[in-house]
Amino acid sequence: MPVSTALFASRMMQLRPSTIREILKITVRPEIISFAGGLPAPELFPVEAVQRAADSVLASNGAGALQYGESEGYMPLREWIATEVQQRGVAASASDVLVTNGSQQVLDLVGKLFLNRGDVVLTENPTYLAAVQAFQAFEAKFVPVPTDACGLIPEALPELIRQHQPKFLYTIPNFQNPTGVTMTKERRIALARIAAEHGLVVVEDDPYGKLRYRGTEIPPVKHWDETGCVIYASTFSKTIAPGLRLGWVVAPAEVFARLLILKQAADLHTSSFDQRVAYAFLTQNDQAVHLERIRRAYGERFDLMNECLRAEMPTSYTWTQPEGGMFLWVTGPKELDALALLQRAVERNVAFVPGRDFFPGHDGSNYLRLNFSNSTPERIREGMKRLGKLCHELAAG
Ligand SMILES: Cc1ncc(COP(=O)(O)O)c(C=O)c1O
Repeated sequence: MPVSTALFASRMMQLRPSTIREILKITVRPEIISFAGGLPAPELFPVEAVQRAADSVLASNGAGALQYGESEGYMPLREWIATEVQQRGVAASASDVLVTNGSQQVLDLVGKLFLNRGDVVLTENPTYLAAVQAFQAFEAKFVPVPTDACGLIPEALPELIRQHQPKFLYTIPNFQNPTGVTMTKERRIALARIAAEHGLVVVEDDPYGKLRYRGTEIPPVKHWDETGCVIYASTFSKTIAPGLRLGWVVAPAEVFARLLILKQAADLHTSSFDQRVAYAFLTQNDQAVHLERIRRAYGERFDLMNECLRAEMPTSYTWTQPEGGMFLWVTGPKELDALALLQRAVERNVAFVPGRDFFPGHDGSNYLRLNFSNSTPERIREGMKRLGKLCHELAAG
């Protein structure tokens, strides 16, 4: 007898398979030029250096790498991460760093720690889809914070806090997924100040900060966190490889202690082997050179996509100008139905993600998210040509 769905927990009621995901399943076909996924460029993965790192880990202490490890993470890696986040402007020591299975696990653990059914999470509008899913699993309600080309608007927060008593604000200040927008320094300072004044917990998700190919670096919101209300998450997914599933969180002591218990309950610890391989890779290779290769390639790919969009798209379409990261965000004419556009685009072997699902309230049908990191220049040129032609045909009716 099949399992009765009546047995499932009530939290499953909110979780629905996405229609977009169904359409996008076919985008793995090689003839489809896909700007849909959120994937880094595989040709920039440091495969040989990781192989050398893995060999050295197994040769020097293979048994240690294959043994259970500490829930907090492998201490040398935690020390390396502490130095890295200090360089980003975050005052942290190794004991503040919890190593996780990607930064996605941080979102799950944070959700588990804070959210009861019906609790409110403030988010940018639009925001990262899998964060919404992670928090939805705890039956959260989402309240969008007004957002513009400079990121979320901190001045809107006091009224939202008063009205909704949110458990936390979730934000992606650098090259946001999906829009590519970066929160300005002034807004980060204002956000940290307002959060401290109102006791607002801020979950700062920073997977893309190291992928800046233009402009000057801005410290994380956590840099201005004087009262310990900011939880800072980051990852090696975009700087080494996502398949390692290595991320981390820096959290105030009372939060750290509880995240650690939840981490133990979830999976005991992150892979001992992967952590040691990452540590060996990080210490055996010049990271500045490695990162520069990624930044240069992504900057060139953004420039090319930007140029192609200008050449190919109808004038009624506009798009963001991210200074780093992997995505840009296209706004079409008001009447555009991006889901219908995707269906027609797939027939012509090109794909993107319609923007609607990135809005917790599903309130925008005329947006497209385009990924530029995962396509070669040739495929960007050809894919943009196909998409532009289709948009012109639609505009002509
Ligand atoms: C904003 C954001 N947060 C978190 C993640 C999860 O990354 P990972 O779990 O690989 O570190 C992603 C992945 O694309 C992301 O875009």
